[in-house]
Amino acid sequence: MRTGFVGTGLMGAPMARTLLRDGFPLTVWNRTEKRASEVLSAGAKWAWSPSEVAGASEVVVTMVSDDAAVEETVLGPGGLVEGMAEGSVLVEMSTTSPAAMESLASRLRERGVALVDAPVFGSTEPAASGDLWTVVGAEAADLERVRPLLASMCQSVFHMGPPGAGSLMKVSGNLVVTGMLALLGESLSLGRAGGLDPRGMLAVLHEIDFSSPLYDGKGAQILDGDFRPRFPLKHALKDVRLADAVGQQLKVPLRGVEGFQHDFAAAVEAGHGEEDCAAVIKAVAEGWP
Ligand SMILES: NC(=O)c1ccc[n+]([C@@H]2O[C@H](COP(=O)([O-])OP(=O)(O)OC[C@H]3O[C@@H](n4cnc5c(N)ncnc54)[C@H](OP(=O)(O)O)[C@@H]3O)[C@@H](O)[C@H]2O)c1
Repeated sequence: MRTGFVGTGLMGAPMARTLLRDGFPLTVWNRTEKRASEVLSAGAKWAWSPSEVAGASEVVVTMVSDDAAVEETVLGPGGLVEGMAEGSVLVEMSTTSPAAMESLASRLRERGVALVDAPVFGSTEPAASGDLWTVVGAEAADLERVRPLLASMCQSVFHMGPPGAGSLMKVSGNLVVTGMLALLGESLSLGRAGGLDPRGMLAVLHEIDFSSPLYDGKGAQILDGDFRPRFPLKHALKDVRLADAVGQQLKVPLRGVEGFQHDFAAAVEAGHGEEDCAAVIKAVAEGWP
């Protein structure tokens, strides 16, 4: 399957390398050319625009920041739609709003192009080993056409419904992760303020019946002062805002979100947006390494 890949950032680059490793011939484009260098060294072909990627591909994967970036790379000047042939498929894997995916699906359908809305759970490590989890919004037949490609990058493929349903699952699921991160920050800050040793606290959280690999991993990162981005804080804020917006649209009161949205926004405002999402703790209390 001649495959195109747009967006070789923290997630896109290892995902593209996984596809190359599994034998998919790949043509790539990234807004900042040098961020595609590892993927090009691994055997991908460079294209000068998304439309050029599309012209060389039967299926194109996008992995960019947000709704605006998807709009620009797909529908903007030199965008994918200019080069996508009738009968081709766009596999959109960024975290976006469900409404954006519903609208994109109908815009593409007019041109005979199918949309597979396939955001992922899992961060840079599972992206590198091909062990992500994808939640898919697509017509069943379209999903089947791209299943081998998804199976290369992901250990599980969950079909949630038509385009938009994958994104709704992703936004709803990320609410759990972002909430856990904000609460871990509050929990460690509270205990430390009262004199507890945060490493001792993590040892307890590791053993008890609501333990989580997230508390272990992000907790260790916080105590080691390692805030190199795996999942950048600015994207976590974007996801919390997406959940807030969907909650308002569906008239579901998300009161917890109001609280931790404040923490993520404050951490980004304080200049931590490019750091890992674990840095949300810096908005709760000062003095973390
Ligand atoms: N990191 C994670 O753990 C993780 C996990 C699951 C899902 N996600 C989601 O995956 C997506 C990508 O995240 P990431 O961590 O890979 O972020 P990232 O490193 O910031 O990459 C973002 C990518 O989008 C491109 N981009 C941004 N705005 C653009 C625009 N206007 N036009 C064209 N390209 C644009 C960037 O190009 P440049 O290189 O030129 O900036 C880059 O390739 C996000 O939706 C994120 O929420 C991330």
